[in-house]
Amino acid sequence: MSERIYIFDTTLRDGEQSPGASLNPPEKLQIAHQLARLKVDVIEAGFPISSPDDFAAVQAIAQEVRGPEICGLARVREEDIERAWEAVKHAERARIHTFIATSDIHTERKLRKSREEVLEMAVNGVQLARQLTAKHPHATVEFSTEDAVRSDLGYLCAVIEAAIEAGADVINVPDTVGYAMPPQFRRIIEYIREHVPNIHQVILSVHCHNDLGLAVANSLAGIEAGVRQVECTINGLGERAGNASLEEIVMALKVRPDYYQVHTEIATAELYRTSQLVSKLTGLPVQPNKAIVGANAFRHSAGIHQDGVIKDSRTYEIMRPKDVGWPADEQRLPLSPRSGRHGLQVRLQELGYQVTEEELTRIYEHFLRVADRKKQVFDEDLVAIVEEETSTVPEIFGLENLYVSTGTHTPPTATVCLNHEGSKIQDTACGDGAVDALYKAIDRITGVPLQLDDYRLRAVTEGQDAIGEAVVRVRDNGLTVVGRGTSTDVIEASAKAYLNALNKVLALRQSRAVGEAGREKVSQP
Ligand code: KIV
Ligand code: ZN
Repeated sequence: MSERIYIFDTTLRDGEQSPGASLNPPEKLQIAHQLARLKVDVIEAGFPISSPDDFAAVQAIAQEVRGPEICGLARVREEDIERAWEAVKHAERARIHTFIATSDIHTERKLRKSREEVLEMAVNGVQLARQLTAKHPHATVEFSTEDAVRSDLGYLCAVIEAAIEAGADVINVPDTVGYAMPPQFRRIIEYIREHVPNIHQVILSVHCHNDLGLAVANSLAGIEAGVRQVECTINGLGERAGNASLEEIVMALKVRPDYYQVHTEIATAELYRTSQLVSKLTGLPVQPNKAIVGANAFRHSAGIHQDGVIKDSRTYEIMRPKDVGWPADEQRLPLSPRSGRHGLQVRLQELGYQVTEEELTRIYEHFLRVADRKKQVFDEDLVAIVEEETSTVPEIFGLENLYVSTGTHTPPTATVCLNHEGSKIQDTACGDGAVDALYKAIDRITGVPLQLDDYRLRAVTEGQDAIGEAVVRVRDNGLTVVGRGTSTDVIEASAKAYLNALNKVLALRQSRAVGEAGREKVSQP
């Protein structure tokens, strides 16, 4: 049997540091459950000291999610480590991941410490983490040397040796700024393995960033050099240009066992679903040509390719779509208005959706409206329809109808009618553009003006009659919420996205109010 590579997923920590990505605790928990289904070995759930929300998310994940080890990040400071332990200690298997930078540029300019001071801080941090985890039967300590690639190699080895001596179980070597070239990174790992005398006592890990587009290549070079843990994220999310993409590393190892002679325990058929969920909840779309999980990853366009694939898919496919959970070729054949309820139901099952009869009725009616406007309905259209019709967000305000007028010399004006607890409320507003007017009209009706941080529009399918998806990110009392809406009409999609975010905000406000009332009751004598 080949050696096992442990997959350490940091989507919820480094991934969440992606500019534009922000997840609230329930969303993080939802992703963590999916990561458990994907069978990652470790979930880095967050950086508990960074905010009360992040602490709450890590704690909830540690308490609820079973299977993977649950990890919290901490600088080598005492408060960080204690807070991280507090958050993860109820996990089935818990990990504290503590780190300090070892490159001169970081130690001198950022930390303003000498090399000796940094080494002492590293040892103290690992010792404290070791003490805290000692009573837990399955807890581990990971130590990272931030900016390892730009560190003096002799000093890097000295810090690693001392951290192992202090009790680390896992040593992680990050290319924090994505600076390494693959052969160079391989030599760094080999050097560490040759020059740190106690290195065989730990699992050696790598953590690569993608500033030069080399994060996956460097991670694979690390594996060639003998590391046994790789840190990565779904869709390659992460600080700046991102981290190494989990799906690309895992599939490289699965498709080329002849070359790497290692394996992972990842349930690869969950990759596509996981990618979609992360994209949906972060509001960050997956680029269509993204390897493994992009919309075009298994689409063949050229006639010669199509001909080859029909005769034998191996002519142009090095992995089977179903191995990554991708709907197989025949399932991507478009539906038409004549497809019927049963045809739709079969296709939904093929796409992995289990819907109730009542949901199916709503989905079918929605499908017919879309199919009437379009000639063909693709899987992406269906996914958008299902998500809208099965959303669990309570519809406190629903869209009844809207009218928007705009022109070169006409101020954009929107008239919106919303349904609220059975009554219809209408109002009109002008704005800087059609969407601005629309959102102002909605604000006038609801009386809950939201701070709009981001607004994006994209075509879910191709062609003039494509379904458009609007994604908004709004803020309410420090809480960031993502709303999505789809329609063949982009203005309607924009209204639905805004209302989806508003309904989430109102539901969260309600659940917070209930929680606070509960706490008040408990604290009363
Ligand atoms: O990139 C980095 O160095 C990190 C560490 C905290 C591991 O994210
Ligand atoms: Zn990182």
